[in-house]
Amino acid sequence: MTEFHEEMILILDFGSQYTQLIARRVRERKVYCEIVPFHQSVEKIRSKNPRGLILSGGPSSVYTENAPIPDAGIFELGIPVLGICYGLQLIGRLLGGGVDRAARREYGHARFYIDDSTDLFLGLPPETDVWMSHGDHLTWLPSGFIRIGHTANAEIAAIADRRRRFFGIQFHPEVVHTPEGARVIDNFVRNICGCSGNWTTAHFIASAIRDVRARVGNGRVICGLSGGVDSAVTATLIHRAVEDRLVSVFVDNGLLRKDEAREVREAFPHLNLRFVDAADMFLTALRGVTDPEEKRKIIGRKFIEVFEAEANRIGKVDFLAQGTLYPDVIESVSTWGPSATIKSHHNVGGLPDRMRLELVEPLRELFKDEVRAAGLALGIPPALLGRHPFPGPGLAVRILGEITRERIDLLREADAIFIHELREFDWYDAVWQAFVVLLPVNTVGVMGDERTYENAVVLRAVTSQDGMTADWARLPAELLSRVSNRIINEVRGINRVVYDISSKPPGTIEWE
Ligand code: XMP
Repeated sequence: MTEFHEEMILILDFGSQYTQLIARRVRERKVYCEIVPFHQSVEKIRSKNPRGLILSGGPSSVYTENAPIPDAGIFELGIPVLGICYGLQLIGRLLGGGVDRAARREYGHARFYIDDSTDLFLGLPPETDVWMSHGDHLTWLPSGFIRIGHTANAEIAAIADRRRRFFGIQFHPEVVHTPEGARVIDNFVRNICGCSGNWTTAHFIASAIRDVRARVGNGRVICGLSGGVDSAVTATLIHRAVEDRLVSVFVDNGLLRKDEAREVREAFPHLNLRFVDAADMFLTALRGVTDPEEKRKIIGRKFIEVFEAEANRIGKVDFLAQGTLYPDVIESVSTWGPSATIKSHHNVGGLPDRMRLELVEPLRELFKDEVRAAGLALGIPPALLGRHPFPGPGLAVRILGEITRERIDLLREADAIFIHELREFDWYDAVWQAFVVLLPVNTVGVMGDERTYENAVVLRAVTSQDGMTADWARLPAELLSRVSNRIINEVRGINRVVYDISSKPPGTIEWE
Protein backbone atom coordinates (compact mmCIF):
# COMPACT_ATOMS: atom_id res chain seq x y z
CA MET A 1 0.00 0.00 0.00
CA THR A 2 2.61 2.53 -0.96
CA GLU A 3 1.24 5.86 -1.88
CA PHE A 4 2.76 7.77 -4.73
CA HIS A 5 4.68 10.64 -3.24
CA GLU A 6 4.82 13.76 -5.29
CA GLU A 7 7.87 14.98 -3.43
CA MET A 8 10.30 12.40 -2.24
CA ILE A 9 13.98 12.01 -1.59
CA LEU A 10 15.56 8.61 -2.05
CA ILE A 11 18.50 7.44 0.04
CA LEU A 12 20.81 4.78 -1.39
CA ASP A 13 22.03 2.72 1.55
CA PHE A 14 25.69 1.74 1.56
CA GLY A 15 25.46 0.18 5.00
CA SER A 16 26.03 3.09 7.34
CA GLN A 17 24.75 2.73 10.87
CA TYR A 18 23.31 6.22 10.37
CA THR A 19 21.23 5.62 7.24
CA GLN A 20 17.92 5.60 9.07
CA LEU A 21 18.92 8.79 10.82
CA ILE A 22 19.39 10.51 7.48
CA ALA A 23 15.85 9.51 6.55
CA ARG A 24 14.51 10.85 9.80
CA ARG A 25 16.31 14.15 9.37
CA VAL A 26 14.87 14.57 5.88
CA ARG A 27 11.39 13.80 7.18
CA GLU A 28 11.88 16.32 9.96
CA ARG A 29 12.14 18.87 7.14
CA LYS A 30 8.66 17.58 6.21
CA VAL A 31 9.85 15.89 3.06
CA TYR A 32 8.97 12.25 2.52
CA CYS A 33 11.97 10.00 2.13
CA GLU A 34 12.69 6.32 1.57
CA ILE A 35 15.75 4.11 1.85
CA VAL A 36 16.66 1.62 -0.87
CA PRO A 37 19.66 -0.72 -1.11
CA PHE A 38 22.64 0.73 -2.97
CA HIS A 39 22.20 -1.70 -5.90
CA GLN A 40 18.68 -0.54 -6.77
CA SER A 41 18.41 -0.33 -10.57
CA VAL A 42 18.20 3.09 -12.08
CA GLU A 43 14.86 2.17 -13.72
CA LYS A 44 13.37 1.44 -10.33
CA ILE A 45 14.76 4.63 -8.93
CA ARG A 46 13.33 6.60 -11.83
CA SER A 47 9.90 5.01 -11.38
CA LYS A 48 9.67 6.52 -7.90
CA ASN A 49 10.28 9.94 -9.38
CA PRO A 50 12.52 11.25 -6.56
CA ARG A 51 13.39 14.94 -6.39
CA GLY A 52 16.89 14.10 -5.23
CA LEU A 53 19.21 11.29 -4.14
CA ILE A 54 21.33 10.94 -1.03
CA LEU A 55 24.19 8.46 -1.04
CA SER A 56 24.68 7.29 2.54
CA GLY A 57 27.91 6.58 4.34
CA GLY A 58 29.13 3.05 4.74
CA PRO A 59 31.82 0.96 6.37
CA SER A 60 33.60 0.06 3.10
CA SER A 61 36.42 1.71 1.27
CA VAL A 62 35.69 2.63 -2.37
CA TYR A 63 38.87 1.05 -3.66
CA THR A 64 38.49 -2.41 -2.14
CA GLU A 65 37.34 -5.32 -4.25
CA ASN A 66 33.84 -5.79 -2.86
CA ALA A 67 33.04 -2.13 -2.40
CA PRO A 68 29.32 -1.46 -2.92
CA ILE A 69 28.93 0.50 -6.15
CA PRO A 70 25.59 1.91 -7.38
CA ASP A 71 24.20 1.83 -10.90
CA ALA A 72 26.22 4.51 -12.75
CA GLY A 73 22.97 5.69 -14.35
CA ILE A 74 22.06 7.53 -11.15
CA PHE A 75 24.26 10.39 -12.33
CA GLU A 76 22.25 10.66 -15.55
CA LEU A 77 18.84 11.12 -13.92
CA GLY A 78 19.10 14.90 -14.01
CA ILE A 79 18.28 15.24 -10.30
CA PRO A 80 20.46 16.54 -7.45
CA VAL A 81 22.73 14.12 -5.61
CA LEU A 82 24.24 14.50 -2.13
CA GLY A 83 27.00 12.08 -1.12
CA ILE A 84 27.72 11.73 2.60
CA CYS A 85 31.11 10.32 3.73
CA TYR A 86 31.37 7.07 1.71
CA GLY A 87 28.88 8.74 -0.66
CA LEU A 88 31.33 11.59 -1.21
CA GLN A 89 34.16 9.16 -1.88
CA LEU A 90 31.97 7.32 -4.37
CA ILE A 91 31.31 10.55 -6.25
CA GLY A 92 35.06 11.05 -6.23
CA ARG A 93 35.81 7.59 -7.51
CA LEU A 94 32.99 7.38 -10.11
CA LEU A 95 33.26 10.90 -11.52
CA GLY A 96 37.00 11.10 -11.93
CA GLY A 97 38.36 12.38 -8.62
CA GLY A 98 41.03 10.82 -6.44
CA VAL A 99 40.40 8.87 -3.24
CA ASP A 100 43.07 7.60 -0.94
CA ARG A 101 43.56 6.25 2.53
CA ALA A 102 43.92 9.23 4.86
CA ALA A 103 47.24 9.58 6.67
CA ARG A 104 45.26 9.66 9.85
CA ARG A 105 41.85 8.07 10.44
CA GLU A 106 39.50 10.76 11.54
CA TYR A 107 36.81 9.93 14.05
CA GLY A 108 34.80 12.37 16.11
CA HIS A 109 34.56 16.14 16.29
CA ALA A 110 36.32 18.34 13.75
CA ARG A 111 36.29 22.03 12.93
CA PHE A 112 34.88 22.58 9.47
CA TYR A 113 35.71 25.68 7.39
CA ILE A 114 33.27 26.75 4.70
CA ASP A 115 34.82 27.97 1.44
CA ASP A 116 31.57 28.70 -0.36
CA SER A 117 28.14 29.19 1.18
CA THR A 118 26.12 29.73 -1.97
CA ASP A 119 23.73 26.81 -1.62
CA LEU A 120 24.45 23.71 0.47
CA PHE A 121 25.92 25.79 3.28
CA LEU A 122 23.60 28.76 2.90
CA GLY A 123 23.06 30.50 6.23
CA LEU A 124 25.82 28.59 8.06
CA PRO A 125 28.57 30.38 10.02
CA PRO A 126 32.00 30.44 8.27
CA GLU A 127 33.23 27.68 10.58
CA THR A 128 31.35 25.08 12.56
CA ASP A 129 31.73 21.75 14.36
CA VAL A 130 31.07 18.57 12.43
CA TRP A 131 31.18 14.84 13.13
CA MET A 132 33.64 12.82 11.08
CA SER A 133 34.11 9.10 10.78
CA HIS A 134 36.29 8.02 7.90
CA GLY A 135 39.50 6.34 6.89
CA ASP A 136 39.56 7.52 3.26
CA HIS A 137 39.54 11.02 1.85
CA LEU A 138 39.40 12.88 -1.41
CA THR A 139 42.82 13.77 -2.79
CA TRP A 140 41.74 15.61 -5.93
CA LEU A 141 38.47 16.94 -7.26
CA PRO A 142 36.38 15.11 -9.83
CA SER A 143 35.97 17.12 -13.02
CA GLY A 144 33.36 19.86 -12.91
CA PHE A 145 33.56 20.13 -9.11
CA ILE A 146 34.80 22.87 -6.84
CA ARG A 147 35.76 22.66 -3.19
CA ILE A 148 33.22 24.23 -0.83
CA GLY A 149 34.67 23.23 2.55
CA HIS A 150 37.70 21.77 4.35
CA THR A 151 39.02 20.73 7.76
CA ALA A 152 42.55 20.67 9.15
CA ASN A 153 42.80 16.97 8.26
CA ALA A 154 40.78 16.82 5.07
CA GLU A 155 41.78 19.37 2.53
CA ILE A 156 38.73 18.52 0.44
CA ALA A 157 35.87 17.93 2.88
CA ALA A 158 32.97 19.24 0.78
CA ILE A 159 32.50 19.57 -2.98
CA ALA A 160 29.93 20.86 -5.45
CA ASP A 161 29.20 20.65 -9.15
CA ARG A 162 26.62 23.41 -9.53
CA ARG A 163 25.78 22.64 -13.13
CA ARG A 164 24.71 19.07 -12.41
CA ARG A 165 23.67 19.85 -8.80
CA PHE A 166 25.94 17.17 -7.31
CA PHE A 167 27.30 17.67 -3.81
CA GLY A 168 29.48 15.69 -1.46
CA ILE A 169 30.37 16.13 2.20
CA GLN A 170 32.86 14.19 4.29
CA PHE A 171 31.08 14.82 7.59
CA HIS A 172 27.81 13.38 8.89
CA PRO A 173 25.07 16.04 8.92
CA GLU A 174 22.52 13.56 10.30
CA VAL A 175 24.05 13.08 13.76
CA VAL A 176 23.44 15.39 16.70
CA HIS A 177 27.17 16.10 16.99
CA THR A 178 26.93 18.17 13.82
CA PRO A 179 24.95 21.15 15.16
CA GLU A 180 24.36 22.72 11.72
CA GLY A 181 23.47 19.37 10.14
CA ALA A 182 19.73 20.00 9.97
CA ARG A 183 20.35 23.20 8.04
CA VAL A 184 22.60 21.42 5.54
CA ILE A 185 19.89 18.82 4.95
CA ASP A 186 17.24 21.51 4.74
CA ASN A 187 19.30 23.37 2.13
CA PHE A 188 19.66 20.21 0.10
CA VAL A 189 16.06 19.00 0.15
CA ARG A 190 14.32 22.34 -0.08
CA ASN A 191 16.61 24.78 -1.87
CA ILE A 192 18.56 22.44 -4.09
CA CYS A 193 15.94 19.73 -4.75
CA GLY A 194 13.06 22.21 -4.63
CA CYS A 195 10.82 20.26 -2.24
CA SER A 196 8.16 22.42 -0.60
CA GLY A 197 7.96 20.35 2.59
CA ASN A 198 4.29 19.41 2.76
CA TRP A 199 4.64 15.97 4.32
CA THR A 200 3.06 16.45 7.74
CA THR A 201 1.24 14.25 10.23
CA ALA A 202 -2.10 15.64 9.07
CA HIS A 203 -1.13 14.91 5.47
CA PHE A 204 -0.11 11.37 6.40
CA ILE A 205 -3.34 10.67 8.29
CA ALA A 206 -5.56 12.01 5.52
CA SER A 207 -3.79 10.02 2.85
CA ALA A 208 -3.62 6.84 4.97
CA ILE A 209 -7.38 7.02 5.54
CA ARG A 210 -7.95 7.50 1.82
CA ASP A 211 -5.69 4.54 1.05
CA VAL A 212 -7.36 2.23 3.56
CA ARG A 213 -10.81 3.10 2.20
CA ALA A 214 -9.73 2.48 -1.36
CA ARG A 215 -8.11 -0.80 -0.43
CA VAL A 216 -10.76 -2.22 1.87
CA GLY A 217 -13.85 -1.11 -0.03
CA ASN A 218 -16.82 -2.76 1.65
CA GLY A 219 -14.70 -5.49 3.21
CA ARG A 220 -14.14 -6.15 6.89
CA VAL A 221 -10.87 -5.78 8.76
CA ILE A 222 -9.63 -7.57 11.84
CA CYS A 223 -6.84 -6.15 13.97
CA GLY A 224 -5.01 -7.66 16.93
CA LEU A 225 -4.83 -4.98 19.59
CA SER A 226 -2.03 -5.51 22.09
CA GLY A 227 -2.19 -2.21 23.91
CA GLY A 228 1.15 -1.25 22.39
CA VAL A 229 1.60 1.94 20.41
CA ASP A 230 1.74 0.41 16.94
CA SER A 231 -1.40 -1.65 17.13
CA ALA A 232 -3.28 1.15 18.91
CA VAL A 233 -2.46 3.66 16.17
CA THR A 234 -3.15 1.10 13.42
CA ALA A 235 -6.56 0.22 14.81
CA THR A 236 -7.52 3.84 15.44
CA LEU A 237 -6.54 4.87 11.92
CA ILE A 238 -8.42 2.00 10.35
CA HIS A 239 -11.44 2.69 12.48
CA ARG A 240 -11.42 6.28 11.20
CA ALA A 241 -11.41 4.91 7.68
CA VAL A 242 -13.96 2.08 7.83
CA GLU A 243 -15.62 2.52 11.25
CA ASP A 244 -17.34 -0.61 12.48
CA ARG A 245 -16.15 -2.72 9.61
CA LEU A 246 -13.06 -2.95 11.80
CA VAL A 247 -13.11 -5.54 14.58
CA SER A 248 -10.28 -5.33 17.11
CA VAL A 249 -9.33 -8.38 19.09
CA PHE A 250 -7.50 -8.21 22.37
CA VAL A 251 -6.17 -11.50 23.68
CA ASP A 252 -5.44 -11.69 27.39
CA ASN A 253 -2.82 -14.43 27.49
CA GLY A 254 -2.43 -14.26 31.25
CA LEU A 255 1.09 -12.90 30.83
CA LEU A 256 0.31 -9.21 30.90
CA ARG A 257 1.45 -6.64 33.42
CA LYS A 258 -0.68 -5.60 36.35
CA ASP A 259 -3.92 -3.87 35.29
CA GLU A 260 -2.93 -3.95 31.64
CA ALA A 261 -5.97 -5.80 30.34
CA ARG A 262 -8.30 -3.43 32.16
CA GLU A 263 -6.44 -0.35 30.88
CA VAL A 264 -6.67 -1.46 27.26
CA ARG A 265 -10.34 -2.25 27.67
CA GLU A 266 -10.97 1.20 29.06
CA ALA A 267 -8.85 3.04 26.52
CA PHE A 268 -10.36 1.55 23.36
CA PRO A 269 -14.05 0.81 23.89
CA HIS A 270 -14.85 2.55 20.60
CA LEU A 271 -12.68 0.29 18.46
CA ASN A 272 -15.29 -2.45 18.25
CA LEU A 273 -13.20 -4.39 20.71
CA ARG A 274 -13.57 -8.10 21.38
CA PHE A 275 -11.88 -9.17 24.53
CA VAL A 276 -10.73 -12.78 24.75
CA ASP A 277 -9.73 -14.17 28.12
CA ALA A 278 -7.38 -16.99 27.12
CA ALA A 279 -5.16 -17.03 30.21
CA ASP A 280 -6.03 -20.62 31.13
CA MET A 281 -5.22 -21.91 27.68
CA PHE A 282 -1.83 -20.22 27.57
CA LEU A 283 -0.81 -21.15 31.09
CA THR A 284 -1.85 -24.76 30.64
CA ALA A 285 0.20 -24.99 27.45
CA LEU A 286 3.20 -23.49 29.24
CA ARG A 287 3.08 -25.84 32.21
CA GLY A 288 6.50 -27.37 32.90
CA VAL A 289 8.22 -25.43 30.10
CA THR A 290 11.47 -23.69 31.00
CA ASP A 291 13.27 -23.20 27.68
CA PRO A 292 12.85 -19.59 26.45
CA GLU A 293 12.55 -20.43 22.76
CA GLU A 294 10.03 -23.15 23.57
CA LYS A 295 8.01 -20.61 25.56
CA ARG A 296 8.01 -18.21 22.62
CA LYS A 297 6.92 -20.92 20.20
CA ILE A 298 4.07 -22.11 22.38
CA ILE A 299 2.83 -18.57 22.95
CA GLY A 300 3.07 -17.79 19.23
CA ARG A 301 1.11 -20.91 18.30
CA LYS A 302 -1.55 -20.37 20.94
CA PHE A 303 -2.00 -16.78 19.86
CA ILE A 304 -2.69 -17.85 16.31
CA GLU A 305 -5.12 -20.51 17.50
CA VAL A 306 -7.06 -18.10 19.68
CA PHE A 307 -7.04 -15.35 17.08
CA GLU A 308 -8.26 -17.66 14.34
CA ALA A 309 -11.06 -19.02 16.51
CA GLU A 310 -12.17 -15.48 17.29
CA ALA A 311 -12.05 -14.48 13.64
CA ASN A 312 -14.27 -17.46 12.79
CA ARG A 313 -16.76 -16.29 15.39
CA ILE A 314 -16.91 -12.87 13.81
CA GLY A 315 -17.90 -14.24 10.42
CA LYS A 316 -16.47 -13.19 7.09
CA VAL A 317 -13.37 -11.05 7.39
CA ASP A 318 -11.22 -10.04 4.43
CA PHE A 319 -8.30 -8.06 5.81
CA LEU A 320 -5.82 -8.27 8.64
CA ALA A 321 -4.45 -4.94 9.89
CA GLN A 322 -0.89 -4.99 11.16
CA GLY A 323 1.25 -2.35 12.79
CA THR A 324 4.33 -2.95 10.62
CA LEU A 325 6.69 0.03 10.79
CA TYR A 326 9.27 1.34 8.37
CA PRO A 327 12.28 -0.11 10.21
CA ASP A 328 10.73 -3.60 9.81
CA VAL A 329 10.33 -2.96 6.10
CA ILE A 330 13.91 -1.75 5.71
CA GLU A 331 15.20 -4.65 7.80
CA SER A 332 13.80 -7.09 5.28
CA VAL A 333 15.44 -5.32 2.33
CA SER A 334 18.58 -4.12 4.07
CA THR A 335 21.84 -3.60 2.22
CA TRP A 336 23.35 -6.97 2.88
CA GLY A 337 20.18 -8.96 3.51
CA PRO A 338 18.36 -9.38 6.80
CA SER A 339 20.55 -9.36 9.86
CA ALA A 340 21.25 -12.64 11.59
CA THR A 341 18.46 -13.82 13.85
CA ILE A 342 19.55 -13.89 17.45
CA LYS A 343 16.21 -14.73 19.03
CA SER A 344 13.34 -16.40 17.24
CA HIS A 345 11.42 -13.51 16.15
CA HIS A 346 9.84 -10.76 17.77
CA ASN A 347 6.41 -10.65 16.36
CA VAL A 348 3.95 -13.35 16.86
CA GLY A 349 4.51 -14.88 13.45
CA GLY A 350 2.20 -15.15 10.50
CA LEU A 351 -1.35 -16.34 10.57
CA PRO A 352 -2.13 -19.50 8.63
CA ASP A 353 -2.78 -19.15 4.89
CA ARG A 354 -6.14 -20.84 5.24
CA MET A 355 -7.44 -17.69 6.88
CA ARG A 356 -7.06 -15.98 3.49
CA LEU A 357 -6.58 -12.54 4.93
CA GLU A 358 -5.02 -9.74 2.98
CA LEU A 359 -2.68 -7.47 4.89
CA VAL A 360 -3.36 -3.80 5.53
CA GLU A 361 -0.34 -2.03 6.99
CA PRO A 362 -1.05 1.68 7.20
CA LEU A 363 2.12 2.49 9.19
CA ARG A 364 4.57 0.83 6.81
CA GLU A 365 6.14 4.13 5.91
CA LEU A 366 6.60 5.52 9.42
CA PHE A 367 9.30 5.57 12.06
CA LYS A 368 8.28 5.06 15.68
CA ASP A 369 8.31 8.73 16.62
CA GLU A 370 6.17 9.50 13.57
CA VAL A 371 3.71 6.83 14.72
CA ARG A 372 3.52 8.52 18.12
CA ALA A 373 2.89 11.88 16.46
CA ALA A 374 0.12 10.32 14.36
CA GLY A 375 -1.32 8.70 17.50
CA LEU A 376 -1.41 12.05 19.29
CA ALA A 377 -3.12 13.68 16.33
CA LEU A 378 -5.66 10.84 16.32
CA GLY A 379 -6.50 11.56 19.96
CA ILE A 380 -4.84 8.58 21.65
CA PRO A 381 -3.90 9.47 25.25
CA PRO A 382 -0.23 10.55 25.50
CA ALA A 383 0.37 8.22 28.48
CA LEU A 384 -0.54 5.28 26.29
CA LEU A 385 1.66 6.44 23.42
CA GLY A 386 4.61 6.88 25.74
CA ARG A 387 4.52 3.38 27.15
CA HIS A 388 7.68 1.30 27.12
CA PRO A 389 7.86 -1.53 24.56
CA PHE A 390 6.58 -4.83 25.91
CA PRO A 391 7.47 -8.15 24.28
CA GLY A 392 4.76 -10.27 22.68
CA PRO A 393 5.47 -13.27 24.98
CA GLY A 394 5.01 -10.89 27.90
CA LEU A 395 6.00 -11.87 31.39
CA ALA A 396 6.78 -15.41 30.20
CA VAL A 397 10.27 -14.30 29.17
CA ARG A 398 10.74 -12.42 32.43
CA ILE A 399 10.02 -15.43 34.63
CA LEU A 400 13.12 -17.55 34.34
CA GLY A 401 12.27 -21.20 34.71
CA GLU A 402 8.75 -22.49 35.03
CA ILE A 403 5.75 -20.20 34.75
CA THR A 404 3.07 -20.61 37.39
CA ARG A 405 0.22 -18.35 38.44
CA GLU A 406 1.95 -17.68 41.76
CA ARG A 407 5.15 -16.63 40.04
CA ILE A 408 3.27 -14.40 37.59
CA ASP A 409 1.55 -12.70 40.53
CA LEU A 410 4.85 -12.16 42.35
CA LEU A 411 6.42 -10.62 39.28
CA ARG A 412 3.38 -8.43 38.52
CA GLU A 413 3.42 -6.90 41.97
CA ALA A 414 7.16 -6.23 41.95
CA ASP A 415 7.02 -4.83 38.41
CA ALA A 416 4.13 -2.50 39.27
CA ILE A 417 6.12 -1.08 42.19
CA PHE A 418 9.18 -0.44 40.02
CA ILE A 419 7.16 1.29 37.30
CA HIS A 420 5.19 3.34 39.82
CA GLU A 421 8.37 4.62 41.47
CA LEU A 422 10.01 5.36 38.13
CA ARG A 423 7.09 7.63 37.35
CA GLU A 424 7.21 9.20 40.81
CA PHE A 425 10.91 10.01 40.36
CA ASP A 426 10.27 11.29 36.82
CA TRP A 427 12.46 8.65 35.26
CA TYR A 428 9.86 6.70 33.28
CA ASP A 429 10.21 8.72 30.08
CA ALA A 430 13.99 8.92 30.37
CA VAL A 431 14.46 5.19 29.92
CA TRP A 432 13.68 3.05 26.89
CA GLN A 433 12.38 0.16 28.93
CA ALA A 434 12.24 -0.84 32.57
CA PHE A 435 10.95 -4.00 34.17
CA VAL A 436 11.52 -6.68 36.77
CA VAL A 437 12.77 -10.20 36.11
CA LEU A 438 11.99 -13.08 38.45
CA LEU A 439 14.92 -15.44 38.94
CA PRO A 440 14.64 -19.19 39.50
CA VAL A 441 16.76 -18.72 42.60
CA ASN A 442 15.99 -18.55 46.28
CA THR A 443 18.29 -16.63 48.57
CA VAL A 444 18.70 -16.41 52.29
CA GLY A 445 17.55 -13.33 54.15
CA VAL A 446 16.44 -12.25 57.57
CA MET A 447 13.19 -10.55 58.40
CA GLY A 448 12.56 -9.61 61.99
CA ASP A 449 14.14 -12.49 63.86
CA GLU A 450 13.42 -15.00 61.18
CA ARG A 451 15.58 -16.51 58.54
CA THR A 452 13.92 -16.36 55.12
CA TYR A 453 14.64 -18.33 51.98
CA GLU A 454 12.81 -16.66 49.14
CA ASN A 455 12.90 -15.40 45.57
CA ALA A 456 15.37 -12.93 44.12
CA VAL A 457 14.37 -10.42 41.44
CA VAL A 458 16.35 -8.26 39.06
CA LEU A 459 15.54 -4.67 38.14
CA ARG A 460 16.37 -3.91 34.52
CA ALA A 461 16.26 -0.37 33.13
CA VAL A 462 17.98 0.63 29.90
CA THR A 463 18.47 3.64 27.73
CA SER A 464 18.38 3.10 23.99
CA GLN A 465 17.49 4.74 20.67
CA ASP A 466 15.93 1.76 18.98
CA GLY A 467 16.39 -1.34 21.12
CA MET A 468 19.24 -2.57 18.92
CA THR A 469 21.88 -1.40 21.33
CA ALA A 470 21.28 -0.31 24.90
CA ASP A 471 23.03 0.79 28.05
CA TRP A 472 21.92 0.29 31.62
CA ALA A 473 20.24 3.38 33.01
CA ARG A 474 22.13 5.28 35.69
CA LEU A 475 19.11 5.43 38.00
CA PRO A 476 19.61 7.45 41.20
CA ALA A 477 20.50 5.46 44.29
CA GLU A 478 17.48 6.87 46.17
CA LEU A 479 15.14 5.53 43.53
CA LEU A 480 16.75 2.08 43.55
CA SER A 481 16.72 2.02 47.31
CA ARG A 482 13.03 2.97 47.48
CA VAL A 483 12.07 0.31 44.93
CA SER A 484 14.09 -2.36 46.71
CA ASN A 485 12.58 -1.50 50.11
CA ARG A 486 9.07 -1.47 48.79
CA ILE A 487 9.39 -4.75 46.89
CA ILE A 488 10.94 -6.62 49.80
CA ASN A 489 8.46 -5.21 52.32
CA GLU A 490 5.33 -5.38 50.22
CA VAL A 491 5.72 -8.44 48.02
CA ARG A 492 5.57 -11.56 50.10
CA GLY A 493 7.93 -14.13 48.65
CA ILE A 494 10.71 -11.81 47.47
CA ASN A 495 13.62 -11.11 49.79
CA ARG A 496 16.32 -9.84 47.45
CA VAL A 497 16.52 -7.20 44.71
CA VAL A 498 19.51 -6.68 42.42
CA TYR A 499 20.15 -4.18 39.61
CA ASP A 500 21.34 -5.33 36.18
CA ILE A 501 24.33 -3.30 34.94
CA SER A 502 24.96 -5.06 31.62
CA SER A 503 24.83 -3.24 28.31
CA LYS A 504 23.65 -4.59 24.96
CA PRO A 505 25.73 -5.91 23.33
CA PRO A 506 26.99 -8.21 24.74
CA GLY A 507 23.89 -8.62 26.92
CA THR A 508 20.32 -8.36 25.62
CA ILE A 509 17.58 -6.22 27.08
CA GLU A 510 15.37 -9.12 28.14
CA TRP A 511 16.85 -11.95 30.18
CA GLU A 512 15.44 -14.70 27.99
P1 XMP B 1 16.47 -7.97 23.33
O1 XMP B 1 16.12 -8.72 24.58
O2 XMP B 1 16.58 -8.86 22.13
O3 XMP B 1 15.21 -7.04 23.06
O4 XMP B 1 17.65 -7.07 23.51
C1 XMP B 1 15.13 -6.02 22.11
C2 XMP B 1 13.70 -5.49 22.14
O5 XMP B 1 12.81 -6.51 21.68
C3 XMP B 1 11.89 -6.87 22.69
N1 XMP B 1 11.73 -8.32 22.64
C4 XMP B 1 10.66 -8.92 22.11
N2 XMP B 1 9.54 -8.42 21.55
N3 XMP B 1 8.75 -10.62 21.18
C5 XMP B 1 8.57 -9.27 21.11
O6 XMP B 1 7.52 -8.83 20.60
C6 XMP B 1 9.86 -11.21 21.73
O7 XMP B 1 9.98 -12.43 21.77
C7 XMP B 1 10.87 -10.30 22.21
N4 XMP B 1 12.07 -10.50 22.79
C8 XMP B 1 12.58 -9.26 23.04
C9 XMP B 1 12.51 -6.38 23.98
O8 XMP B 1 11.53 -6.15 24.98
C10 XMP B 1 13.23 -5.15 23.54
O9 XMP B 1 12.34 -4.05 23.43
